[in-house]
Amino acid sequence: MPSNRRRPLPPFAPGLLLLLPFLAVAPPPAASAVGVNWGFASSHPLPAAQVVQGLLLPNSVPRVRLAAASSDALSALAGTGVAVTVGVPDALLRPLASSTKAAAAWVHDNITRYASSVRFEYIAVGDEPFLLSHGQHFQPFVVPAAANIKKALTAAKLSTKIKVVVPCSADTYQNASMLPSKASFRPDVNKTMGELLSFLSNNSSPFMVELDPFLSFQRHKNLSLDYYLFQLMSHPVKDGQNKYDNYFDASIDAVVTALTNAGFSDMDIIVGRAGWPTDGAVNATPAIAQSFMIGLVNHLAKKSGTPLRPKVPPVETYLFSLLDEDQRNTTNGGYERHHVFLQLALMVTALLCHLVAPALALAGLAMCHMRSTTTTNSMIRVKTAATSMA
Ligand SMILES: *[C@@H]1O[C@H](CO)[C@@H](O)[C@H](O)[C@H]1NC(C)=O
Ligand SMILES: *[C@@H]1O[C@H](CO)[C@@H](O)[C@H](O)[C@H]1NC(C)=O
Ligand SMILES: *[C@@H]1O[C@H](CO)[C@@H](O)[C@H](O)[C@H]1NC(C)=O
Ligand SMILES: *[C@@H]1O[C@H](CO)[C@@H](O)[C@H](O)[C@H]1NC(C)=O
Ligand SMILES: *[C@@H]1O[C@H](CO)[C@@H](O)[C@H](O)[C@H]1NC(C)=O
Ligand SMILES: *[C@@H]1O[C@H](CO)[C@@H](O)[C@H](O)[C@H]1NC(C)=O
Repeated sequence: MPSNRRRPLPPFAPGLLLLLPFLAVAPPPAASAVGVNWGFASSHPLPAAQVVQGLLLPNSVPRVRLAAASSDALSALAGTGVAVTVGVPDALLRPLASSTKAAAAWVHDNITRYASSVRFEYIAVGDEPFLLSHGQHFQPFVVPAAANIKKALTAAKLSTKIKVVVPCSADTYQNASMLPSKASFRPDVNKTMGELLSFLSNNSSPFMVELDPFLSFQRHKNLSLDYYLFQLMSHPVKDGQNKYDNYFDASIDAVVTALTNAGFSDMDIIVGRAGWPTDGAVNATPAIAQSFMIGLVNHLAKKSGTPLRPKVPPVETYLFSLLDEDQRNTTNGGYERHHVFLQLALMVTALLCHLVAPALALAGLAMCHMRSTTTTNSMIRVKTAATSMA
């Protein structure tokens, strides 16, 4: 057990803001396969330029996943070298599936126009379109939309640089027992998933899985909070020969099992979302969310992989989320709107940790004490302004 696992973060010291310009040239953190989600469902969005110049760049955040092709965000990311994943909202799946022209226009307007200056990595088609609660609503359109976007990328000579992925929610493969060896794709997505995996495989694209550990924790009362926070000290979950001391690895191996059963045992895996809410439910607190983030990033930094894929961690993992989004759908609970982990005061703390213990780099960014988006974002705005003056 690494001794830094429970290292408390040093207290925030306002004067240290002055250090930011010097730290901006620091190399990317050790866990460079880590990125952040950046969504736009906010009534008081922070200006994109400030997000990029004030939050992402000073912290050497290597990659972001945009919920949609925001022109402000893409313009702000131009020339930065930050790797970018762009989301395609579920509502566009049907039009993009039914018309190659619509897909070509989408790629032209939202990708090609920026491609000389933005470092695109993936286009994420749909926003968890196979969620059980969506039923069959989006299923028929997902693979055709992905294929049309792929064709448009090829025509624009961008398909060698940019891969197409589809974010899949955990309920597509998770067995109620939560044992990885019991995982398999849900019967109602079996056919679509077969087509999707064939498409991904043909294009050497990874499988993107979305994890909502908090939702899982709420639903599975026999799995302890420690299991979700990477802090389980004893009684790991036994699954045949394998033992799991955290939900993250068990989730990855559940995906590996489902992929293997479907005939795609070698497919790479990307975690498109992993986070813990800071408000809106019992056990959704800044302190617990911070433990989660620190546990996750320390875990990823070890690159230990999982029992089924030793030494092969997910290709990339996107933390959820950069900013609170007060307009998010609250079907799963009010906590959906409170996932911010990045607040400037603690970023400074994080950077100090980074100097002491590189593994803590992005984890240290974890957290905020703010209760509302408005307050959080205006706090960041004030502090970002202070930073750019420093
Ligand atoms: C992307 O392109 C389409 C088609 O040109 C356009 O309708 C849409 O507004 C653009 N932006 C986003 C965020 O999808
Ligand atoms: C979980 O796995 C068990 C054993 O393989 C199976 O009987 C059960 O139907 C599965 N449950 C779900 C929800 O897939
Ligand atoms: C948790 O409880 C479920 C039934 O709700 C059971 O199927 C499963 O095996 C239990 N898991 C563990 C790790 O104890
Ligand atoms: C993948 O490639 C195989 C072989 O070329 C082809 O038969 C199959 O239709 C392709 N799958 C998809 C979804 O495009
Ligand atoms: C769909 O079900 C069949 C029959 O059980 C199985 O062979 C196949 O691997 C499943 N496909 C996926 C994608 O899970
Ligand atoms: C929230 O999601 C649920 C379930 O997917 C859906 O029925 C509902 O219309 C959504 N609400 C909003 C405001 O988008």
